[in-house]
Amino acid sequence: MAKSYRIAILPGDGIGPEVTREGVETLRLVAGIRGFSLELTTYPFGADHYMKTKETFPPSALEEMRGQDAILLGAIGDPRLPVGLLERAIISGIRFGLDLYVNLRPIKLFAADLCPLKGKGPEHIDMMVVRENTEDVYAGIGGFLKKGTPDEVAVQEMIFTRKGVERVIRYAFDLARRRAKARKLTLVDKANAVGAMDLWTRAFAEVGSEYPDIAREHAYIDAACMWMVKDPESFDTIVVSNMFGDILTDLGAALQGGMGVAASGNIHPGRVSMFEPIHGSAPKHAGKNVASPIGSILAAQLLLDHLGEQEGGGLIEESVAELFATRQLRSVGTDSGVGTREQGELIRGALRKRVATPT
Ligand code: IPM
Ligand code: MG
Repeated sequence: MAKSYRIAILPGDGIGPEVTREGVETLRLVAGIRGFSLELTTYPFGADHYMKTKETFPPSALEEMRGQDAILLGAIGDPRLPVGLLERAIISGIRFGLDLYVNLRPIKLFAADLCPLKGKGPEHIDMMVVRENTEDVYAGIGGFLKKGTPDEVAVQEMIFTRKGVERVIRYAFDLARRRAKARKLTLVDKANAVGAMDLWTRAFAEVGSEYPDIAREHAYIDAACMWMVKDPESFDTIVVSNMFGDILTDLGAALQGGMGVAASGNIHPGRVSMFEPIHGSAPKHAGKNVASPIGSILAAQLLLDHLGEQEGGGLIEESVAELFATRQLRSVGTDSGVGTREQGELIRGALRKRVATPT
């Protein structure tokens, strides 16, 4: 019997729905080609739903998602609502609720002219960032004292657990091994200023001793930002704590050509996981058919990889790469001149051709 996957689709806010439409269409095409079927369930959560119902993200939705194979999310966030309300409820709700402890963010340059750095091409920028995804300041341990008064105190704790740090480091070592490229893993932290990060230093050394074939490197987050710009080829696989990883991967997305091209997977190996573009909801571009859907389409690729459908995922990546290599697409900015829908169609056209004439 043909395989069937149950996928939750959460288009969300702003440009989320239009880019997700392209991600979903591409998934459907690959399913047809590779001979598996998809059962899609679309969820309405986001700003409009909240304004109508006052519901952010009900526990029942999380429970339903737990029973599916994967989740494809568009973008969450809307300037009409308090900062972070929906992001915390929905994005963090899914990351924490499903214990998706790896935030996997490939940084891969598809064509030299996409990169803002001079003299850098695809041979220089190809790395994987493994961002810890369930701890750090995102864990929500904190609060206020005397809120709104001149004596106000605000506290937000950076939480690291031995288990949480160790499991993400282990994932990163395994990934560096699977990639079989430079066979090295760089730990990025701020252990010189944040004493608690000594936990990362020790766990990295201890877990690393089980991977004698993988070289261990280290960079402080500030220096890592500098090296990403000066010498991006020095990185292969990176493991980094949650907030530093958030920042480092926006820099990484810029090296790839912009937020429009960067995708991420929120992963718990072997369990239902969530895939999304790195970009946000970009409300000012919403509904105009100008946002690039490539982040969502590459998120669909990561989703397929997670489901064990690497061949289907590979078809997506090769088609995106071809589009840039042949200069049918020269930028992923909103001024690229190629619409959201049209970019999706170009990629699917290239994909169909690859299948008709395998290289
Ligand atoms: C990301 C985003 C989120 C994060 C926001 C929207 C909460 O920036 O996925 O990188 O900080 O993790
Ligand atoms: Mg971010």
